[in-house]
Amino acid sequence: MATPGAAAAASSSALPFLLLLLLLPPLAAAANVTYDHRSLIIDGRRRLLISTSIHYPRSVPAMWPKLVDDAKDGGADCIETYVFWNGHEIAPGKYYFEDRFDLVRFAKVVNDAGLYLMLRIGPFVAAEWNFGGVPVWLHHVPGTVFRTNNEPFKRHMKNFTTYIVDMMKKERLFASQGGNIILAQIENEYGDTEAAYGAGGKPYAMWAASMALAQNTGVPWIMCQQYDAPDPVINTCNSFYCDQFQPNSPTKPKFWTENWPGWFQTFGESNPHRPPEDVAFAVARFFEKGGSVQNYYVYHGGTNFGRTSGGPFITTSYDYDAPIDEYGLRRLPKWAHLRELHRSIKLCEHTLLYGNTTFLSLGPKQEADVYIDQSGGCVAFLANVDPDKDSVVTFRNRQYDLPAWSVSILPDCKNVVFNSAKVQSQTLVVDMVPERMQASKPDRWSIFREKTGIWGKSDFIQNGFVDHINTTKDSTDYLWYTTSFSVEKSYSSKGSHAVLSIDSKGHGVLAFLNNEFIGSAYGNGSKSSFFLELPVNLRTGNNELALLSMTVGLQIGLEGEYYSLFKPEQGNNQRWTPQSEPPKNQPLTWYKVSVDVPEGDDPVGIDMQSMGKGLAWLNGNPIGRYWPRTSSMDNRCTSSCNYRGKFSPDKCRTGCGQPTQRW
Ligand SMILES: *[C@@H]1O[C@H](CO)[C@@H](O)[C@H](O)[C@H]1NC(C)=O
Ligand SMILES: *[C@@H]1O[C@H](CO)[C@@H](O)[C@H](O)[C@H]1NC(C)=O
Ligand SMILES: *[C@@H]1O[C@H](CO)[C@@H](O)[C@H](O)[C@H]1NC(C)=O
Ligand SMILES: *[C@@H]1O[C@H](CO)[C@@H](O)[C@H](O)[C@H]1NC(C)=O
Ligand SMILES: *[C@@H]1O[C@H](CO)[C@@H](O)[C@H](O)[C@H]1NC(C)=O
Repeated sequence: MATPGAAAAASSSALPFLLLLLLLPPLAAAANVTYDHRSLIIDGRRRLLISTSIHYPRSVPAMWPKLVDDAKDGGADCIETYVFWNGHEIAPGKYYFEDRFDLVRFAKVVNDAGLYLMLRIGPFVAAEWNFGGVPVWLHHVPGTVFRTNNEPFKRHMKNFTTYIVDMMKKERLFASQGGNIILAQIENEYGDTEAAYGAGGKPYAMWAASMALAQNTGVPWIMCQQYDAPDPVINTCNSFYCDQFQPNSPTKPKFWTENWPGWFQTFGESNPHRPPEDVAFAVARFFEKGGSVQNYYVYHGGTNFGRTSGGPFITTSYDYDAPIDEYGLRRLPKWAHLRELHRSIKLCEHTLLYGNTTFLSLGPKQEADVYIDQSGGCVAFLANVDPDKDSVVTFRNRQYDLPAWSVSILPDCKNVVFNSAKVQSQTLVVDMVPERMQASKPDRWSIFREKTGIWGKSDFIQNGFVDHINTTKDSTDYLWYTTSFSVEKSYSSKGSHAVLSIDSKGHGVLAFLNNEFIGSAYGNGSKSSFFLELPVNLRTGNNELALLSMTVGLQIGLEGEYYSLFKPEQGNNQRWTPQSEPPKNQPLTWYKVSVDVPEGDDPVGIDMQSMGKGLAWLNGNPIGRYWPRTSSMDNRCTSSCNYRGKFSPDKCRTGCGQPTQRW
């Protein structure tokens, strides 16, 4: 390549020509992405793809290159992400693409690493994300019915999906333009929403709005957990196992958009774990039975920063027991065991995709699928689907040991390069090492106390209750209700007593009577509504009752929120009161401390075990909700985890009696 500096120095007349050269964007060759019944076809070649979900707003941009590299090193060909509508269109027509929401930057990080991108545009994403990714403002657009053949919904959805597609096209990110996006998705998991098939009939009329987009991106479009999407959309499977999945059309390939290598966490419950042997078993079975695109949902789960976690009661951590943990560290042995699996499957790629297949029964619960191609290549998968018994099978006059619930991969029909139940990788236990943080200022702490009840002028006065979400419109987790009433004689909590009872469909409440905290109640993941009954003392004359209603994931909040006390520039706000030590057991209190950065490059967590429930900020950025709520001792935990047999999130749980999320 010529060096522009030298050319410019040689002759000034070369300058116009040179400028022209510099202005031209580097043009990558466009790729032709299509599919047939077997797989995607990229530039004429069938491809078997390992894809990994990394959701960009669930980590910070500084983490992206390493996460993507670790996925590539783990055997990924492709990164998958949702596009989070409510993170981007914060008010109708008002868009946000900065920082963790810099979608183009994320796509380019993936492109720079040489990986493909699968873009699932929504508009609905679920994803344990607040309101499933749909903006709460859309709830208040008159006449809107979500995810149906409904005019206001279609109009806003079309606007957003068009905006995203245009943005990606402008950056030339679709494979048809030389970029790395090879697949895109509209909507999500229609298959399980009856509403979508309600009065408006099939939602196809709604799809038509965005189908036009699909046509001009030049890449195939998919629809996950769906079995009857209209052509040319590819139906795909989401589940713990997808080997039985049939795409419902002889012309469509078998894709698995969500393989769940773990499960999400819920405040107040123990934590589920999916054993690596079982994840590997499921993936091997999928490719054995003709699958060709497999995506881990999620490969790195990350963190539900701020108030982005979905409701109800989804934790701030979205670790998911994924191959890369919340902090961005490889989870061993899971990450390495899957890498070995991917390497072994890749050895079989050509024969799997171009060969013919023969099924052989090797025993009551033992079987082989054999692929042979025209150049003599032979690949075999030997499976023992018995959830209890190990087995020895004979295949092509040789004997093979097959542990219970396992698959062996033989890229030459002879030598086993991988068995899903035999984990070769070391185990790595990541532990928190305490580090005392040094206060960088003499006044260690500042506090701000919220008033009990409405702190300014009330937003409105009415007789009776209002709906929490409709009132706060998701601008805060908190809503105060206050009332006062007069009694003629006092009631103590003993003897003839007064009782406060609250029957709520909300997530939680704190109750205050005459400025004193009297009690709280919360729902949980399986029953978000709750009932609270409290004996109370009433004084003669006027009594003031204040209830603070709270949401934990959607589903006029606090004074400190109104003043944005969490912002660094509010550090000297007069409302903050300096303290040498933080006060304890104080509800409605904001705490602030300045500390020096801990030494080293290791990830840092903050221990919140001694705290109640609230929200945390670091340097003005919302980290998320904290709540060291513990699960009960008998919340399905097991001391050992048997990988054999079908996985469900009830299996292999840990941490009973512990906070669901301490850090
Ligand atoms: C793209 O590939 C398909 C099948 O592999 C082929 O039929 C089609 O002609 C190709 N299109 C272009 C523009 O090369
Ligand atoms: C859709 O986008 C266009 C152009 O950006 C804008 O003028 C229009 O108001 C938007 N419509 C809706 C329903 O938001
Ligand atoms: C599979 O393909 C091989 C090589 O092309 C051929 O010899 C063999 O007969 C085929 N088997 C079946 C069952 O189609
Ligand atoms: C909340 O607002 C929506 C949209 O305005 C309305 O349809 C719904 O009935 C309201 N719900 C309650 C419980 O007030
Ligand atoms: C959730 O709340 C319901 C109703 O209050 C209760 O029966 C159930 O045991 C709770 N579940 C857990 C896991 O705490």
